Amino acid sequence: MNITVFGTGYVGLVTGACMAEMGNHVVCVDIDVGKIERLKRGEIPIYEPGLEAIVKRNHASGQLDFTTDPLPAIAHGQVIFIAVGTPPDEDGSADLQYVLGVARTIGQHLNRYAVVVNKSTVPVGTADRVSKAVAAELIVRGVPVEFDVVSNPEFLKEGDAVEDCLRPDRIIIGSSSERAVGVLRKLYAPFNRNHERTVVMDERSAELTKYAANAMLATKISFMNEIANIAERVGADVELVRQGIGSDPRIGYHFIYPGAGYGGSCFPKDVQALEHTARDVGYDARLLNAVEAVNRDQKSKLFELISRHFEGQLAGKTIALWGLAFKPNTDDMREASSRHLMEALWKAGAKVRAFDPQASEETRRIYGEQPNLQLCDSAYQALEKADVLAIVTEWKAFRSPDFNRIRAALASPAIFDGRNLYDPVQVEEAGLAYYGIGRGRSL
Ligand code: UGA
Repeated sequence: MNITVFGTGYVGLVTGACMAEMGNHVVCVDIDVGKIERLKRGEIPIYEPGLEAIVKRNHASGQLDFTTDPLPAIAHGQVIFIAVGTPPDEDGSADLQYVLGVARTIGQHLNRYAVVVNKSTVPVGTADRVSKAVAAELIVRGVPVEFDVVSNPEFLKEGDAVEDCLRPDRIIIGSSSERAVGVLRKLYAPFNRNHERTVVMDERSAELTKYAANAMLATKISFMNEIANIAERVGADVELVRQGIGSDPRIGYHFIYPGAGYGGSCFPKDVQALEHTARDVGYDARLLNAVEAVNRDQKSKLFELISRHFEGQLAGKTIALWGLAFKPNTDDMREASSRHLMEALWKAGAKVRAFDPQASEETRRIYGEQPNLQLCDSAYQALEKADVLAIVTEWKAFRSPDFNRIRAALASPAIFDGRNLYDPVQVEEAGLAYYGIGRGRSL
């Protein structure tokens, strides 16, 4: 099939590359000239395992192309995906200007039936708004072209994006048009291995499904962080509690890891946007408010532990940080807990020496020449002349370090384990103080 994708961010680029990988002819459109030029040269703007290989392979074979010109792209696509950004407005609601801008462009140039697909995470009711925006332009032009708008949210995770896209758990098709459902069923047929993964529903239910999924996962995390906060006060170890409850299949082991709070481009934004949607229709989403409030506090947790260790005297101290990205296998720093921690440390007069396997460049882009931040080339280099070590992101490379080497390097040997990676006993036996999240020993 001929596919067009508007937006070459995470969702757009991965969707385009995976659709090409499945044998479709894909054209990706973006207004960022530099980005399109780089993509044509095979340079991928983000770090995402496996993405570079499929982009290069499909670009070389002619299955995947990039352009800044919407005209030929709209003429090309039988299915036109909208995968542009929906940044939060100041009040937390999703800003739809880019989505609606693309919808208008489609309406200005569409000359035959196409299925317009919302891939971006958009508030309930957006499919209707996109439909109206396309239709309004067609009316202006006076061309009676038919089209359908479908909500088909994406559920990929950064770090596993290619795998998630090629092998989705479910394919949500939100549409009341049989014609559009038929086209998307055909497009997604090769993604339905072994058994049918497609769930067809109306547009609004599909839009809400996306928010409900992210809000549910964020709720699990905040719930577990709350249990961790109780655990540390009653002398229990949340890691044992986690295993104890995860063994119940109704609860499950996934997304119950306590830590330094959830970040990224999705959970914080989507929980807020859903709260906002609820407020708009006169419902106070108390649970969602609490999920967000717990997470906000949790992002201060590591700073509080470090500050308490130094009895509030952080001026002149140097803190080594392992991990900057909001989670492993990405260089994404959006809403990362490391930012919260570093900014609080700087405010208190401390210096930071940090190592991240992928996110140094992104950190440099965000903070520029920050005198209190030294970005290091290795985990152990970050420890040089540092007082203590804080683990912020659970990269595999940090899982079994040489504790004796860490103790020898630190002036005030202590580990603040923001992701509960280590066994407290093993760390303490190596002569380091151990502070974890909810491990009954952090107060
Ligand atoms: C999330 C969802 O997991 C995807 O299903 C969804 O498609 C995506 O948002 C999206 O809406 O586009 P992502 O933001 O890439 O994916 O990252 P996650 O793996 O979900 O992690 C989010 C945050 O939660 C990270 O900061 C992570 O450290 C934290 N987390 C995760 C925990 O603190 N504890 C856990 O048990 C799991």
